[in-house]
Amino acid sequence: MTTVIDLGEYGDAFRRDPHPVYALLRERGPVHRVRLPAPDAHHETWLVVGYAEARAAFADPRLSKDGRRIGVTFLDEELIGTYLLTADPPQHTRLRSLVSRAFTARRVEEMRPRIQRLTDDLLDAMLPAGRADLVESLAYPLPITVICELLGVPELDRAAFRKLSTEAVAPTSAESEYDAFVRLAEYLTELIEDKRCAGPSGDLLSDLIRITAQDGDRLSPGELRGMAFVLLIAGHETTVNLITNAVHALLSHPDQLVALRADMSLLDGAVEEALRYEGPVENATFRFAAEPLEIAGTPIAAGEPVMIGLTAADRDAGRYPDPDRFDIRRDTRGHLAFGHGIHYCLGAPLARLEARTALRSLLERTPALALDGPPGEWLPGPLMRGTRSLPVRW
Ligand code: HEM
Repeated sequence: MTTVIDLGEYGDAFRRDPHPVYALLRERGPVHRVRLPAPDAHHETWLVVGYAEARAAFADPRLSKDGRRIGVTFLDEELIGTYLLTADPPQHTRLRSLVSRAFTARRVEEMRPRIQRLTDDLLDAMLPAGRADLVESLAYPLPITVICELLGVPELDRAAFRKLSTEAVAPTSAESEYDAFVRLAEYLTELIEDKRCAGPSGDLLSDLIRITAQDGDRLSPGELRGMAFVLLIAGHETTVNLITNAVHALLSHPDQLVALRADMSLLDGAVEEALRYEGPVENATFRFAAEPLEIAGTPIAAGEPVMIGLTAADRDAGRYPDPDRFDIRRDTRGHLAFGHGIHYCLGAPLARLEARTALRSLLERTPALALDGPPGEWLPGPLMRGTRSLPVRW
């Protein structure tokens, strides 16, 4: 009989620091049947914790993202619409090709001066106080402003949107998750309608409304809502945590901070190591066995859920020697923080640009930056890895 490991038994310690538990699991084998901690304690899933197996799982077409293949409709699909992370080929290929026409490398590159300017303005506002919550002052406002400007989202009620968005990716209860999805769907429908009426305006959402492939194919209303949803939510929740986790890791490892300050050419490496060491996404979004399969000899029945552990895989000693050491000079190539395969993160270049800009400017302007007390609560749920606040002084 399969042993089910109840991750809830590790209590709050697991949320604060899941790494020792993942290390224990990796020692026992690369894939396990687990019960998730509250508020998802009703969920049992397979969890892949070994690096090689995680990478292979990302590339396995038998692991589906499309609930319809196993006769299930998920909350996001039901309330928002089909999007990149709820679709398999050929629909996924089609969606990805349509969005790639609008969300180009050039578009990201064109954001560079604006990202620098926003960072400078946020630091100008933050620095006189001498101490701040880094999340509130920099890590949250930078990515949310960038993605709103890129998409052309006007005068968003930031505080209200932030609550909904964080509930959607790190829900505190099933009811508040449902409520968040309903309200996000309403918001996005209205936003798209306003954009459609306003005519072309050169922003990404306006382009997506009008984009047409050579064969005349275009996004349906549901697909458009799904695309706006994934870009708006994935486009900032994750990057907030990258900036926060990177600063947290550097300030907790003074030798690495000194090395980086002495040689800022190590910056890109520091961002990649932060992604590997404490990536913003703890586990990839759910997949399902579309047919019976085996992962490392463990049989997985058709229809069963499979979660690929990014936090777990990126600390596999078989791939990264001495994996619990934060080392900005290490070779981080192949880390799975942005996923792998056909669902590889579409926004990786933008996220890297934002994190590098934020980190460089912050370090340059705060020579005495230090932690100012313990970080806030770690986000709940299996998806995100980050703290709600990070008190710093300089
Ligand atoms: C540090 C920041 C980020 C991290 C760590 C991250 C991580 C990820 C991961 C792990 C996946 C794959 C999920 C899976 O296979 O289940 C993914 C997909 C995706 N990400 Fe990101 N992401 C980040 C930033 C962004 C940004 C800034 C955007 C958009 C502007 C974005 C848009 C997307 C989209 C659209 C997908 C779905 C791609 C597909 O299914 O083809 N992400 N991301």
